[in-house]
Amino acid sequence: ASLKVVTLLGSLRKGSFNAMVARTLPKLAPAGMDILPLPSIGDIPLYDADLQQEEGFPARIEEIAQQIHEADGVVIVTPEYNYSVPGGLKNAIDWLSRLPEQPLSGKPVLIQTSSMGAIGGARCQYHLRQILVFLDAMVMNKPEFMGGVIQSKVDQQTGEVVDQSTLDHLSGQLTAFGDYIQRVRR
Ligand code: FNR
Repeated sequence: ASLKVVTLLGSLRKGSFNAMVARTLPKLAPAGMDILPLPSIGDIPLYDADLQQEEGFPARIEEIAQQIHEADGVVIVTPEYNYSVPGGLKNAIDWLSRLPEQPLSGKPVLIQTSSMGAIGGARCQYHLRQILVFLDAMVMNKPEFMGGVIQSKVDQQTGEVVDQSTLDHLSGQLTAFGDYIQRVRR
């Protein structure tokens, strides 16, 4: 059976470069891997334990959790905000972490950051890894992907990555992630 991998996008804006990276992934997937986007994290309310108690989990969080449960792996594709994880992504992870059945526990996770800066959101990656330690996710160590100066590596018209070395790096990383998923399962 083929591997099902879902992408969790950390940027909310329409013209997002990270959305372009996420959009490019399906065609770069190795044979036997299907890559599908998770629903947007944009309209999830700020985590509030009172809200959780009074109204339960947001439908969007239940939906994302269900799709993560059904997936073999998750790719988190995100910008870096102020040297760290964007608040919206942290908020979604905070909600997911309160579910009785933890969707990210033991789940293979791949991190991809891209930014307009030279080092492609490198600083965000280690903050995100730290958060995922508490969630007991199985985050792949290497190879890493940090898409620096990402605005010069995409086609704004098609909204996809076009730079060949970036494409090669991404497809190599996805192949490694497929192997990693198999290793984690054994
Ligand atoms: C940024 N940006 C940014 N870039 C970076 O390399 N390191 C950083 O710490 C930050 N910090 C930051 C904070 C906030 C609040 C914003 C809005 C932006 C710039 C960022 O890389 C750029 O806006 C990207 O285009 C964001 O990714 P998307 O939305 O294009 O996917």
